[in-house]
Amino acid sequence: MSKLAIHGGEPVRTEPWPVWPQYGPAVRQAIQRVARSHVYCSQMGGEVGHFEEAYADYHGVPHAVAVANGTVALQAALAAAGVGCGDEVIVPAYTFVATAMAAVENNAIPVFADSEPLSQGLDPEDVRRKITPRTRAIMPVHINGYPCDMEAILSIARDHDLVVIEDCAHAHGALYKGRRVGTLGHFGCFSFQQKKNMSLGEGGMVITSDAAAAERLHEMRGFAWTNVTRNWRMGEFYGAIGREQIKVLDEQNQRRRANAATLVEALGKIPGLAPLPGLPDTQPVYYNLILQYDENEIGVPREDFVEALNAEGIPVKMFYMPIQRWPTFPAADFFGRGCPFSCPRYEGGLVDYNHVRTPKADAICDRVNVEIRVQPTSGELEMRQAAAAIRKLSDHRDELKGAAASRRKG
Ligand SMILES: Cc1ncc(COP(=O)(O)O)c(C=O)c1O
Repeated sequence: MSKLAIHGGEPVRTEPWPVWPQYGPAVRQAIQRVARSHVYCSQMGGEVGHFEEAYADYHGVPHAVAVANGTVALQAALAAAGVGCGDEVIVPAYTFVATAMAAVENNAIPVFADSEPLSQGLDPEDVRRKITPRTRAIMPVHINGYPCDMEAILSIARDHDLVVIEDCAHAHGALYKGRRVGTLGHFGCFSFQQKKNMSLGEGGMVITSDAAAAERLHEMRGFAWTNVTRNWRMGEFYGAIGREQIKVLDEQNQRRRANAATLVEALGKIPGLAPLPGLPDTQPVYYNLILQYDENEIGVPREDFVEALNAEGIPVKMFYMPIQRWPTFPAADFFGRGCPFSCPRYEGGLVDYNHVRTPKADAICDRVNVEIRVQPTSGELEMRQAAAAIRKLSDHRDELKGAAASRRKG
């Protein structure tokens, strides 16, 4: 049995992991087309408009509005729905901070709900528990590209007359019961930031079937004559890249699915490591493939396992924490003077995020999730190497256990 790389052995993989994204000739030509046109701002050009059309067509919806990034997409959707001062918005504790900050930016109060075990998205039961007379919106997140329980969430929204804004930052093209995510709620919001499945470097999009809301979104994003004028525009270079990237999205998602399947098959059964199943009748797009780690079964803290995996040349990072624990939330004072929590229009009383309990999201973030990259720039070789490295660590678990214990003592 070969020696672990953290103990000086040969790593399973010595070459760097393939970078994501890598643009081919079509994107380079699109960038040159914009450069030659001397029109770089969407107010004067057409690339962004064509990208919006293509994005709407792909989703089978009438309206797509491009914006500067995914956070702004969420902010704009909330604003277009009239959610703001004094309102509560239910968001998952297990997401990236942007989902909750979009509510705060609109002067609304994020309320954190727990995760359900199959997709790790919003737990409908906990959403029901968190509803108050002040709740106006629910923001489900298809986290890591696994579609969440939209049927249950939409039914709760109908019962309480709530707006549903899907955060699809990780899930472009994922399918829920045959429908693309982002088309199930009132709004679907996407990020095109560098790491995302559809990557333009930066950028965002809101899709909706609501014509009046789409008009408000158009006005809002570009200095229109509304009460608050903003500039949330996407530039022409991004629009041109987007027009190319939407053409290859399905093919790239298929590569992600094939990579995930290869890795899971090559891994076989390893006690204490199980792939996240996802919900029935969904097709995830694996922003990350999630392996669920059972520290009791493996006997090694997850951090030590991940460190050893990195040493084997398989890049794994863990950076999520339940959002209520981000340093800014316990202080609950974003703009100084306690805003938006101290707003006289907010009738929910003192907001204290120190007492929010989301045990399942806590476990996912603190102990369970190991996020494996399955980006389309990697393939069968990388997936087999990742599986081999995980198996190697599993075979050496006693050695890892000993090293972890002595490190903690030392
Ligand atoms: C779940 C989620 N929502 C929203 C965002 C915000 O997107 P952006 O970085 O484009 O503002 C991100 C990521 O960055 C995210 O991971």
